[in-house]
Amino acid sequence: MIRPAELIQRKRDGEELADAELAELILDYARGGVPDYQLAAFLMAIYFRGLSERETFALTDAMVRSGDTIDLGAALGRRVVDKHSTGGVGDKTTLAVGPIVAACGVPFGKMSGRGLGHTGGTLDKLESIPGYRVELTTEEFVAQVRDIGLAVVGQSASLVPADKKLYALRDVTATVENVSLIAASIMSKKLAAGADAVVLDVKVGNGAFMKSLEAARELGEAMIALGRRAGREVVCVLTDMDQPLGCAVGNSLEVREAAATVRGDGPPDFTELVLDAAAHLLALSDLGVDRAEARRRAEAAVADGSARAAYERWLRAQGGDPDESLLPVAPVVRAVSAPRDGHVTRLAALPVGLAALHLGAGRREKDDAIDHAVGVVCARKRGDSVARGEPLAEIHARDEPSADEAATAVLAAYELGDEPPEHRPIVLETLG
Ligand code: URA
Repeated sequence: MIRPAELIQRKRDGEELADAELAELILDYARGGVPDYQLAAFLMAIYFRGLSERETFALTDAMVRSGDTIDLGAALGRRVVDKHSTGGVGDKTTLAVGPIVAACGVPFGKMSGRGLGHTGGTLDKLESIPGYRVELTTEEFVAQVRDIGLAVVGQSASLVPADKKLYALRDVTATVENVSLIAASIMSKKLAAGADAVVLDVKVGNGAFMKSLEAARELGEAMIALGRRAGREVVCVLTDMDQPLGCAVGNSLEVREAAATVRGDGPPDFTELVLDAAAHLLALSDLGVDRAEARRRAEAAVADGSARAAYERWLRAQGGDPDESLLPVAPVVRAVSAPRDGHVTRLAALPVGLAALHLGAGRREKDDAIDHAVGVVCARKRGDSVARGEPLAEIHARDEPSADEAATAVLAAYELGDEPPEHRPIVLETLG
């Protein structure tokens, strides 16, 4: 029998705890046997003292064991690949990667989350599609991946319940930003959902959790170590989130952009990230191809229309209508014009994400309703040239006052200069 107060004290003093001690504490907490105040103190001790690689794995393993797990691989008789992004502004990658991977013959079944703060969630984006059902039973989810090759659903409440409780506690006790806790939270969900191989996209920059390349690298390496200890293959790409990904920020606007990308008409940075992620997933799958061949197949699926067909099949299977004219449209569309001639030297992701949030595209509180029609489209990105009076961005708003406020915020997110900035690729580094 563990004594939580003793474990808190030993972690506070920098001791390394035994696997069984960590497991018992986390499993007891998930069952309601340890109060929030003791876990809050324990999390703060971890925040300051950290966890060793072994302890981080013990924590992750206990979190997985706190609920159900899904063996999608056994149900399909195939090797299962999955992806995860740490979240950012305009990140609609799953919506485009899923259909490309499925079109190449690799099953893609993903459990996604909702957005909080300035970062959007895949489920919220999908819910802007009329009729789309994010809640499938586990049986429906598995059957759809088997029959259609693709399903994206909300995470079942019975999967990693310890993470739900711990994340909510971390959120209100200033203990989110710890590499071991973030790595355990993300990887426990991937392991419980049954992935044999995982592609992790760690966002770096102004609009991301990880503000520096060093911090992103540390998180990526921690997650790769956890995956390997659990016997899974993990590749981690560190990608730019200093500016929004692609042009569209806001739910239905992002669905349109993802659909365009699947047809081959997407913005260059987003298209590159999608093809890179799809190539990693295909190379990790049971197709038996290397990355160069995987990339060629991903590009071919976009070019020959099979990715688009997979996209439509997927939405219909989940009750959604792929007709883009049915997506919600905002009543007010306002251009943000360039105040001078020049080059965009900076476009900060965070203020654009916050502008979209204030327009109603995201939630300030967990249970807030979302306006799926509103958001921001960045017509110019870092490195683009612009003439005075030409549009930098477009605001899609519910009313004039909110459009005014967003236009001011988005204009302030742009910096214009005489010379183009140095090119920064979307994929900054690949680990694993
Ligand atoms: N995303 C997660 O799922 N968990 C974290 O702790 C941070 C980001």
